[in-house]
Amino acid sequence: MKKIMLLAIMLAVPAAQTVADEQAQRADQSRAVIKSFAGALKGELKGALKSEGPLKAIEVCNSSAQHIAAELSKKHGWEISRTSLKPRNAANTPDAWERAVLEKFEARKAAGEGPKMMEHYEIVTMNGDPVFRYMKAIPTAKKPCLVCHGSNLKPKVAAVIDKYYPNDQARGYKAGDIRGAFSIIQPM
Ligand code: HEC
Repeated sequence: MKKIMLLAIMLAVPAAQTVADEQAQRADQSRAVIKSFAGALKGELKGALKSEGPLKAIEVCNSSAQHIAAELSKKHGWEISRTSLKPRNAANTPDAWERAVLEKFEARKAAGEGPKMMEHYEIVTMNGDPVFRYMKAIPTAKKPCLVCHGSNLKPKVAAVIDKYYPNDQARGYKAGDIRGAFSIIQPM
């Protein structure tokens, strides 16, 4: 009996270790891909804001954000997206798991944690299969985010946003708020 238990422990410990290692590795890979996603978005946004101003930049966000996410998803074989409790694009509406994580991020922020390093990951079952899910909070910076996500949008900016997103919820943010999160699903 003792021998069997010992054997079980010897087998279980490395197995648990491997699972933790694998998750840490998947989290690292997720962080790296998000870095390039965020970099690409920032590049597009900054370039458009600088060369053509916020009205044109809205159009760039409209056409590029989903496109970049789709390209990266294809490249890595994952689902890569952005989501928010108050989405601008309805395509970014959180699913139940994402909503729960976003609500936990808000609770962590309320408890004093800054959103910059906030992340959450775990293995969950989706459609009967285990998947690795990862989310990283996106903080709201004063510049340039509030031009399009703040409280006092310029009427011209608001009008263009209304044109593309008649059900926009992504306004009224302050610097330091959690604007949303990057979200990744990795099949296992
Ligand atoms: C020029 C206007 C503009 C600026 C500036 C801007 N955004 Fe957005 N943002 C948009 C538009 C348009 C969308 C919808 C994109 C889409 O269709 O997927 C969006 C969507 C998002 C989303 C996806 C969730 C959602 O609401 O649909 C996040 C997260 C986000 N923005 C964060 C930021 C952050 C953080 C900043 C500052 C670094 C920022 N945005 C600056 C226009 C802007």
